Amino acid sequence: MNTTLITGASSGIGAAFARKLAARGRNVFLVARSEDKLIALCNELGRLTSIRAQYLALDLRHPNAGAQLFEETKKRELEIDMLINNAGFGSMGDFVKLDLNHELEMIQLNISALVDLTQRFLGPMRDRNRGTIINVASTAGFQAVPYMATYAATKAFVLSFSEALWEENRAHGVHVMALCPGVTETNFFEAAGIDRPPMRTIQTPEEVVETALRALRREKSTVISGWTNLLTVEAERFFPRSFVTKVAGKALRSRFEE
Ligand SMILES: NC(=O)c1ccc[n+]([C@@H]2O[C@H](COP(=O)([O-])OP(=O)(O)OC[C@H]3O[C@@H](n4cnc5c(N)ncnc54)[C@H](OP(=O)(O)O)[C@@H]3O)[C@@H](O)[C@H]2O)c1
Repeated sequence: MNTTLITGASSGIGAAFARKLAARGRNVFLVARSEDKLIALCNELGRLTSIRAQYLALDLRHPNAGAQLFEETKKRELEIDMLINNAGFGSMGDFVKLDLNHELEMIQLNISALVDLTQRFLGPMRDRNRGTIINVASTAGFQAVPYMATYAATKAFVLSFSEALWEENRAHGVHVMALCPGVTETNFFEAAGIDRPPMRTIQTPEEVVETALRALRREKSTVISGWTNLLTVEAERFFPRSFVTKVAGKALRSRFEE
């Protein structure tokens, strides 16, 4: 059964992808830790559409989670022709004072799990000469972000990794794309224990998903969601990287240093 696998599908951008793709007639396989939310979403999608919505409650920080998830799709005889690597979290603060385990777990989820799932599902897609992988990066991946150092670096990895795989795979029928949202109205900030930045340009998860699906049709390697976010990233290219880093650091320094 042709199915889209979405990680981090219990809320925010992942749940918005699930609703939008189900409405377009795609079967979905939803993964996150919160079983109650996944059951509720599968029930909602089952009521509204004729597609098959399934879930697996799984903590993707565990090193063997990718293998477990891949085996589960084989057991359920799902043909994953679209993978959306969306699960991720962030943290904020003076790096030296942050919980090291939490930072390492972020690398495990935002980077290692994404690389693991990408390789496992890319192989069968290449064999079929058909498939799509969306890796959720961030506008934070285009520059260093002081006081969000690890998070921004994980997203820089996702961006670079996805662009490289876009080029490696486009002649093989597989489209790999990095999706770069800016500040989006989701549980992200609450999960990270930080206040949402006071910006006027906050997008909804539905707007981010619309942008991603439009960009897929245009076979783009990377898409930045939101005009203001796009203009900000483009404008930063005209300044030395150290200047951009200093400006970003200045905006947050007073919150984290006495
Ligand atoms: N919101 C923004 O401003 C923003 C901006 C740029 C990029 N992004 C990126 O967008 C992606 C989605 O985040 P969001 O904004 O939609 O935030 P969100 O509402 O907090 O969603 C995060 C999702 O990841 C899942 N998740 C977290 N830890 C997990 C784990 N260990 N194993 C499996 N699933 C896990 C969460 O579900 P459970 O808690 O149930 O596991 C949830 O479904 C992330 O990669 C984030 O970095 C967000």
